[in-house]
Amino acid sequence: MKRLAVFASGSGSNYEAIAQACADGRIKASVALLVCDKPGAYVLERAKRFGVETLVFNPKAYARKADYEREIADRMDELGIDLVCLAGYMRIVGEELLSRYKGRIINIHPSLLPSFKGAHAVEDAVAYGVKVFGITIHWVDETLDGGKIIAQRAFEYEGGDPDEVHAIGHKIEHQLYIETINKLLDESVS
Ligand code: GAR
Repeated sequence: MKRLAVFASGSGSNYEAIAQACADGRIKASVALLVCDKPGAYVLERAKRFGVETLVFNPKAYARKADYEREIADRMDELGIDLVCLAGYMRIVGEELLSRYKGRIINIHPSLLPSFKGAHAVEDAVAYGVKVFGITIHWVDETLDGGKIIAQRAFEYEGGDPDEVHAIGHKIEHQLYIETINKLLDESVS
């Protein structure tokens, strides 16, 4: 059975979608680790409900990104992690993790990349007057939301309300992430 690590910073609805899909067999893998850089984040409550090991850290407590990334990668090595899924992890991944988990880290982003990178993609797209929104899953490299695209799904929306775009987008994200993880696991992760 393949083993996933999920990284999240906030609510964790994508984490829960992945964990639930693993629990009921829609993903043929288990979530072995949840990594979180925000000690109070709601995703930690969700992980507790699933009984999943968590690695929680405060980046400010470390002198360098490489220091906390080394701890994460060491634990992932011990657990035998096959695929790392960033799910609302609002941090650029550094060289330590990228080199040790090369070709095994993916991210989900709420826009049709390469449009609207960054932390406020939906709000930026609405402000721009976008009518076709979407979700992207891509390989993670050293650039912000910049690695090669694996999957995308678009939807039309003209209402101008970012909350509605988030709500529609989240439903698509949960489905697309599950499908994409299964596809990558079938291909044995690159
Ligand atoms: C998701 O919409 C994800 O696409 C986005 O954060 C949200 C997390 O939601 N990620 C990014 O913006 C990355 N640049 P969740 O905590 O409910 O899964």
